[in-house]
Amino acid sequence: MSLKSNLQALAEKHLPFAFCLLRTFKPILTIQQFTLVTRFTDVQEVLSRPDVFGVTYAEKMGIVTGGSNFFLGMDNTTTYTRDVSNMRIIIRREDIDAIIVPMVTRLAQEAIAPHSGTLDVVKHVCGAVPARFVKEYMGIPGPSEAEIIDWTTYLFQYLFFPGNPKEVDDTAIAYAAKLRPYLDGLIAVRKAQPDSKDDIIARCLALQRSGAPGMTDVDIRNNLIGIIIGAIPTTSKAAALVIDYLLDHPELLAAAQISARQNDIAAIRQYVLEALRFNTFGAGVFRVANADYILASGACRARKIKKGTQVLALTQSAMLDGRQLSSPKEFRLDRPLYHYMHFGYGMHTCFGQYINLAQIPLIVSAILKLPNLKRSGKTQYRGPFPTSLPVEFGS
Ligand code: HEM
Repeated sequence: MSLKSNLQALAEKHLPFAFCLLRTFKPILTIQQFTLVTRFTDVQEVLSRPDVFGVTYAEKMGIVTGGSNFFLGMDNTTTYTRDVSNMRIIIRREDIDAIIVPMVTRLAQEAIAPHSGTLDVVKHVCGAVPARFVKEYMGIPGPSEAEIIDWTTYLFQYLFFPGNPKEVDDTAIAYAAKLRPYLDGLIAVRKAQPDSKDDIIARCLALQRSGAPGMTDVDIRNNLIGIIIGAIPTTSKAAALVIDYLLDHPELLAAAQISARQNDIAAIRQYVLEALRFNTFGAGVFRVANADYILASGACRARKIKKGTQVLALTQSAMLDGRQLSSPKEFRLDRPLYHYMHFGYGMHTCFGQYINLAQIPLIVSAILKLPNLKRSGKTQYRGPFPTSLPVEFGS
């Protein structure tokens, strides 16, 4: 394993104690060409300087897209703005209430309905719902539900986790080679046989017809590759982590179940955001310094970060920083949204953040409504992603 992946593994294993020590004694820690950034304000400073701290994903994005890129792999360029703007015209915030909330509510109910007594939260619900959401809302069913989940999960691990076993990276690259022609075929069929559907592929093709730049068939395919990789394994993992956390905290579980039965989605959203602070989706995000930079300039902890340094902005540590959050070790439902960085921060803040704030609570809520919900086994993982979380429930 490389130093970079060792640092990440170390950070994840000894959380949150190691973060607390670092925030107190070495808030900006540089070891060789790597820097760990642990305090809330410093993490936000790194992530809000995209011209200094660039993303590190372009090379792998090139492999996944077959020689191109996707906007998460781009720095603050005109192409970034063009591509993200095109996709924001297509994936609209007003869809959340009009389309996404009713769709995900139904999909979550349908996923749970066939089961009685026992259920695998990951296999039957958390993975299935975002995959079916991508099928219906985006128009991308995959060759099968299992394959689209598997492809996007491996590809996420390949793109965003350093130091994977070789077989994981090889599998992901092989899946990318299947995903590209699959999406090309889907786009070609939809183009050849226009229909009245109002899904994301239809909207991409409509924008293409209007002559918008950056919307060739291949551009559309690459945008969709990035977005579905961002959408399926992430939502699945986040929802499973929340249920996993609540199952381990019976008092919170009972209170959350009351809110779920009252259809209080705003309250469930707070449980989701807070549970993910303790059972985290990921410790942080990597950046590379494209110029020398003094971080936390003017403060005693200020450090010069040299051009070329790999920087791990530890969002999870930031969300445990008592300088910014009051009683950070307490599970509280009254924290403001701006204290959470589960979906990143700054220019590359998650494209799906508003979808997530609706979809994850709706999935979690549907599971919480089950009576006498209990864990019947430990959460199983393949690499960073949960594969199974068995529960039982009664009448
Ligand atoms: C419908 C679901 C989702 C979609 C479509 C989606 C898509 C994306 C996209 C396209 C970006 C890049 C944004 C940009 O470059 O401007 C992004 C960033 C990000 N997403 Fe999501 N995502 C989804 C769900 C999630 C979930 C559930 C999580 C975590 C719990 C998450 C965490 C992040 C983070 C941390 C980043 C920032 C990465 C960085 O700055 O390096 N996403 N997402």
